[in-house]
Amino acid sequence: MTTALHGFEMNIVEQTSTPFYYYNMDILHDTLREIDRHISGHPFVVHYAVKANGNPHILKEISQHGLGADLVSGHEVEAALAAGFQAEKMTFSGVGKTDWEIKLGIQHGIGCFNVESVPELEVINQLAGEMDKTANIALRVNPDIDAHTHKYITTGTADNKFGIGIEVLEQTVKQALSLPNIHLRGLHFHIGSQITSMTPFAMLCDTINDLLDHYEGQGIHFEMINVGGGLGIDYSEPDKHPLPDFESYFGTFKANLKIRDNQQIHFELGRSIVASCGSLISRVVFVKESRNKKFLILDAGMTDLIRPALYQAHHEIQNLTAAGNGIDKQVEQYDVVGPVCESSDVFAHSRKLPISRRGDLIAIRSAGAYGESMSSRYNMRALPASVFAYKK
Ligand code: LLP
Repeated sequence: MTTALHGFEMNIVEQTSTPFYYYNMDILHDTLREIDRHISGHPFVVHYAVKANGNPHILKEISQHGLGADLVSGHEVEAALAAGFQAEKMTFSGVGKTDWEIKLGIQHGIGCFNVESVPELEVINQLAGEMDKTANIALRVNPDIDAHTHKYITTGTADNKFGIGIEVLEQTVKQALSLPNIHLRGLHFHIGSQITSMTPFAMLCDTINDLLDHYEGQGIHFEMINVGGGLGIDYSEPDKHPLPDFESYFGTFKANLKIRDNQQIHFELGRSIVASCGSLISRVVFVKESRNKKFLILDAGMTDLIRPALYQAHHEIQNLTAAGNGIDKQVEQYDVVGPVCESSDVFAHSRKLPISRRGDLIAIRSAGAYGESMSSRYNMRALPASVFAYKK
């Protein structure tokens, strides 16, 4: 018999060998429907940022829902094509696209290269010319807006490697318009990730409005404006807020952006689409006591989920076995760690959890984005497996 605990199908959790990613596909579908609800009736196009989670099963579900794909490598383009995403609904970002990656995109007629520099623009024009094709592009603008998120995931300030500076944008726009094998569709922006305040997005809208006024004055119309991704999720209370605040997010663009006639607004959302649906499930290997603390040593480590080690990211942790047995009232403080030979292999310091024992099942929540996709084989560990649960 299936019993559900904190939304987990416990028969699946108990029968799968750990560590593995557990995906609650109902949450994914609810999230996708919530996006539809907020964009319908607006000239909005949403692309899924594949880098957040490239699991083929997840990709297929999202492509079947009709979203576009935002890609950052040739292998992501191939994975998106295999999952059924339409080429004309693909965007391809990245500061270092190599020739084979550019040719792959041109050959399939992808919707847009988000071009990050003048040398890249010239190479795309040259390769498209050799292939007797025209490449669709947007120029990625570095708007110099600080998204006030972690410094490793801030992308839109002048110190970052991303995008073309506003001071050279005009000459680059003119150059792009003059190149024979380039079709300039619009402008692209992305200011960072895990952004929970709407202020940076409103500032981005102001910057875009000013730019569009300026170019309109010069008789230049952009058929698309891509505002990137970046909407954050609530890592602290995953059960209270299983869906991101799409209302405020899309509402900010609806309220602040002066959308022109015949213009589409594109979004590239990664984390907000897949973070909530995924949890990393693991078992306690040992409970180890040192002089001044207790360690909960798991069979999952930083190779399965690197976010806490890399960004000091917070993820909620639950002891599913203790909760299932009703013995989750007595708590203890633990450093929750993995087995990898690195001191940074820590999921949480001094975390209060029910008294835990060897063999207990542990869920690390909100791990659907940048979890499995950032896993590695360091220490020759196996890559984590994945299971998909559907209830509805
Ligand atoms: N578009 C571009 C051009 C991007 O660089 C990114 C993410 C996205 C869209 C999607 O952003 P999202 O909606 O997921 O915030 N590994 C980090 C996050 C890195 C994000 C990189 N760029 C983490 O685990 O927090």
